[in-house]
Amino acid sequence: AEDVKDDLVNVLFTEEQIHGKLAEMAKQIEADYEGKDLLIVGVLKGAAMVMADMARSFTRHVDMDWMAVASYGSGTKSSGVVRIIKDLDIDIHGRHVLIIDEIIDTGLTLSWLTSSLRARGAESVEIATLLRKPDALQMPVDPKYVGWDIPNDFVVGYGLDYREKYRNLRDIGTLAPHIYS
Ligand code: PRP
Ligand code: MG
Repeated sequence: AEDVKDDLVNVLFTEEQIHGKLAEMAKQIEADYEGKDLLIVGVLKGAAMVMADMARSFTRHVDMDWMAVASYGSGTKSSGVVRIIKDLDIDIHGRHVLIIDEIIDTGLTLSWLTSSLRARGAESVEIATLLRKPDALQMPVDPKYVGWDIPNDFVVGYGLDYREKYRNLRDIGTLAPHIYS
């Protein structure tokens, strides 16, 4: 289809709802980290949009860095192993780290990332995720900030892709099954 929106069966969250939610989350985070240096770490590539909008919802100083990780055995996350494609530039020893992602699905990515960053001697490591699929969770992960819990459907937009497409969609929606089946 010409318009990325044509491939959706429904819109779950509009751009406006997403921005409202991120502003709420940012306000809570600012309150919780008052008086502390904060480093937010975006998980490439999905978290690009959340990072950009969340960071600009803060009025305080915040350091920003990025990681890129991938599950072994491309596509399937069943192996439970994650490798680092791009590491942090910043030494996080003694730092307050908040990992930012757009979705927790099986939990593998953030469960692994949280332990990995804690092992580097960060003062604290917490997670903020815009979306979580409670029915898909396979690994223990306990995000401090969650935007919305959603059903276990194939969602795209606002950073979420299907084969690298739909990330640029402003809304988040459910992908029509005929696209991926
Ligand atoms: C997606 C998403 C999360 C992760 C969640 O990233 O952006 O980071 O999967 O899934 P999980 O809870 O089952 O680990 P992906 O690894 O597909 O890469 P991307 O961010 O580049 O799209
Ligand atoms: Mg990701």
